[in-house]
Amino acid sequence: MSAIDSNEFPALAAPRRPQGRTNMREALRAMRENALSAHDPENFAADIITQRILWRRMFIINEPNAIKYVVLDNAANYTKSEVGRRLLEPGLGRGLLTSEGETWRRHRRIMAPSFDPRSVAGYAPIMTKVTEELLAKWDALTEPRELDVAAAMMHATLHIISRAMFSSDSDEIVDVVESGVNRYQTTVRPSLPDLLHVPLWLSRLLAPQPTEGIFNEFDEKVDRLLTERGRQPDAEPKDLLARLIAARDTETGGGMTPEEVRDQVVTIFMAGHETTSQALSWTWYLLSQHPAIEAKLHAELASVLEGRTPNYEDVANLRYTRMVIEESMRLYPPAHTFGRQPIAADEILGHRIPAGAEVLIMPWLLHRKPSLWENPDRFDPERFSPERSAARPRFAYIPFGAGARICIGAAFAMTEAMLILASIAQRYRLRLKPGHPVDPQGLITLRPRYGLKMHLERRPN
Ligand code: HEM
Repeated sequence: MSAIDSNEFPALAAPRRPQGRTNMREALRAMRENALSAHDPENFAADIITQRILWRRMFIINEPNAIKYVVLDNAANYTKSEVGRRLLEPGLGRGLLTSEGETWRRHRRIMAPSFDPRSVAGYAPIMTKVTEELLAKWDALTEPRELDVAAAMMHATLHIISRAMFSSDSDEIVDVVESGVNRYQTTVRPSLPDLLHVPLWLSRLLAPQPTEGIFNEFDEKVDRLLTERGRQPDAEPKDLLARLIAARDTETGGGMTPEEVRDQVVTIFMAGHETTSQALSWTWYLLSQHPAIEAKLHAELASVLEGRTPNYEDVANLRYTRMVIEESMRLYPPAHTFGRQPIAADEILGHRIPAGAEVLIMPWLLHRKPSLWENPDRFDPERFSPERSAARPRFAYIPFGAGARICIGAAFAMTEAMLILASIAQRYRLRLKPGHPVDPQGLITLRPRYGLKMHLERRPN
């Protein structure tokens, strides 16, 4: 590679690989510590990877058509994976992310209108307002302005989902959630008994999860709000909570019980801010390493916005901004892995998949598969131009999942990420603090292990 090339395409942060041969105990420890560290270069190129932990078989499906088969064509034969459910249910209850069958279908129907484009447009002013507040705080910092951008993005997205959900009741919720989410992310890991599908009670006895009670305070506050709101239903639902309470099934006319609303609230809260904040953090990291791409982004912002605060109508015109975020989620997909389990035995790519096996889909591998992406480790937003996107198989890029269980919040997340990115990039350039280690760590989501210490450079007005 020439010097010019390596300037334009610097080596990007990658997970550290375990050195030398490891036994099963060490491999498991490495996997719990970072689910992405154990992949050899061959795994990125493979169509299917088979693994075994004692008697449990695992299959990583890494080919677009086979993924389509699992999440769409033969989706009726697949449930969400038991391991994923064990990780999420203690915190999220039985919300949309973890429920199955008729319950899931009914809830998805009831909740879909709250996430359609009209509803997302209604939340956009909250997104820009929270970003303006963040920028006012940054403006008030004294030079040199330096902070952990990953923490700042988490704070912003948490405030946005909180205000969208609870309007004026949101502030007291934010504080209790912020520390709880961080502890949940960093302490909840799959244990060996979980991976082996040992019955849950035995698994918890053998490997207790230190998460008991993390969300107690949050739960209490949500319960209290639900009771208050239940007593005085809104004639015209304004925030997301009011909408969920008032929502009715288009097929049966029924609504959700208070317990069901509670589980949906917690699910949306958790699923709805961490992932978006990780997408933004990785985008800031990538932009800081690629000044030419950053300059192109600035040029689009200047021509579309002419210095104004962006609003929902601008989102459709910020084409390059969207491509930057799409490419960032290709390289660092916040939901790096998701899992399914076949109800009956199946056959995929010539492999017999026993009933109950662990079937994993890893955007982390798929999004860097050399046969699908030219120079897969390069940050190149132009890949997402309409022409180049059209030439790619539809299931080659799945940051929001695919099929019936595709992320319900995808439009919310894209709008939010674009408005935050556009507002901040108009005013600041974010530069990685020299020497700060950037280490992608695959926990429940893909996060920069040490946060992102960055220097904020005020752009000329
Ligand atoms: C960049 C941000 C986001 C990413 C990368 C992301 C990713 C995903 C993925 C991959 C799935 C599917 C998992 C599977 O098939 O097993 C999913 C589902 C889901 N997401 Fe998101 N998500 C994001 C933002 C959001 C937001 C903003 C919300 C809500 C406000 C949300 C709520 C949900 C819910 C409720 C589900 C379950 C849907 C169902 O099973 O019907 N997500 N998300």
